[in-house]
Amino acid sequence: MRIAICGAGTVGSGVAEILLKNQELIKARTGTAVTIEVVASRSEPKADAFAGIPFTTDVVSVCHRTDVDVVVELMGGTNDAKRLVETALSAGKSVVTANKALIAEFGEGLFALAAKNDVQLRFEAAVAGSIPIIKVVQESLAGNQINWLAGIINGTANFILTKMGAEGSRQAFAEVLAEAQALGYAEADPTFDIEGIDAAHKLAILGGVAFDQAIRFDEISVAGITRVESSDFAMAKTLGYRIKHLGIAQRFETELELFVGPCLIPEHSPLASIDGVLNGVLVKSDAAGETLCTGPGAGALPTGSAVVSDLIDLVRGGQAMSLTNRRSNIAELQVLPQGRIHSAFYLKMIVMDEPGVIAALTAILARRGVSLDKIFQQNLTEGQSMVVLITDHIQQSELDVAIDELEDHAAVTSGIQKMRVF
Ligand SMILES: NC(=O)c1ccc[n+]([C@@H]2O[C@H](COP(=O)([O-])OP(=O)(O)OC[C@H]3O[C@@H](n4cnc5c(N)ncnc54)[C@H](OP(=O)(O)O)[C@@H]3O)[C@@H](O)[C@H]2O)c1
Repeated sequence: MRIAICGAGTVGSGVAEILLKNQELIKARTGTAVTIEVVASRSEPKADAFAGIPFTTDVVSVCHRTDVDVVVELMGGTNDAKRLVETALSAGKSVVTANKALIAEFGEGLFALAAKNDVQLRFEAAVAGSIPIIKVVQESLAGNQINWLAGIINGTANFILTKMGAEGSRQAFAEVLAEAQALGYAEADPTFDIEGIDAAHKLAILGGVAFDQAIRFDEISVAGITRVESSDFAMAKTLGYRIKHLGIAQRFETELELFVGPCLIPEHSPLASIDGVLNGVLVKSDAAGETLCTGPGAGALPTGSAVVSDLIDLVRGGQAMSLTNRRSNIAELQVLPQGRIHSAFYLKMIVMDEPGVIAALTAILARRGVSLDKIFQQNLTEGQSMVVLITDHIQQSELDVAIDELEDHAAVTSGIQKMRVF
């Protein structure tokens, strides 16, 4: 199988290195050699693995070459990448991509184009790097009804939260972000990672595959990690929780909840120990039970590994991937509006350290129908204390009304920090 690699950056170089290093192994396993006929990118590739391979800056031209069977899109972005993928599919070439933004935002049209031209569009590398989570959901769990999935699917956010939550750390968000940038774990513009957008792109793709329906990226309730404070980690720990940035997709009878944001999770949860830049996805399905997949969510070779697995599936004539799992129509689940998300919540506030304050605050909550699972108070200096509450399950919109009332109370001297408990 003859391929063109478009984009000779981190992942492109990783794919070239794997194909060079493991070429005999791949040929032995599949009976077919996978060869790079041409590499196309904005500037000349630097990686040794591209040595001797013809190079062009005219990326779209590879789609019209008769010596190219498959186009591998590893440029990123949604403008030139979309044009390239559309041209390749229209020219009858299958495409493999790692581009989550492209699949999450334009997947429906691209899969329709692939089907029309009787070619494939594959995207395993777009979600959670090395972890074969699309394959697990689409193939290994294909006989299951999936109840929910929860994933740590952004390595940068996980690195920052892990550092902020480390034993004895009092590091603030901005300080750890700067460290992540210095180590190359966060981009110069980290917006997509720290605001939850990258995780939402991945959840749109993964949720679609798990729940058999195309998910619009803008249907997802998205929050990032910028508001998490170092004191939240100490409070969470005292109460037996860790803080992780999760993407959650959960089915109810006729409804689907889609959520991206920081959450408290019990310290014994399988996701609690997935630290640093690692990713992990926990899937709860009706027959298999809980399945945890974990591994590196980014990097040249881990992400390249997922791209190469898609290439091997093409060699082997594997069934086409799609944005959903279904081959015929089934009833779609209604996406829950954010306010109707039902969960336990963590609330943190600073209050005046005076008699009767806690009683007054809990009375407000009781009147608003918010019952409490845990309450914790820590004295601060100058007549103030920090109060942390864990609520029982409640609809988010109902809790928000109670929070507004708490914030108006004279004894509450801070805004109220709210995080979901999953
Ligand atoms: N890095 C990861 O660990 C990872 C993990 C999972 C998924 N992904 C996805 O994989 C894709 C590639 O990521 P990456 O980290 O490898 O990015 P990267 O290191 O920035 O590489 C992108 C390459 O494509 C070239 N390029 C970009 N736009 C181009 C254009 N319009 N025309 C021609 N060449 C262009 C760049 O050239 P210049 O260098 O000259 O700009 C660079 O060589 C993205 O969709 C990303 O979301 C990455």
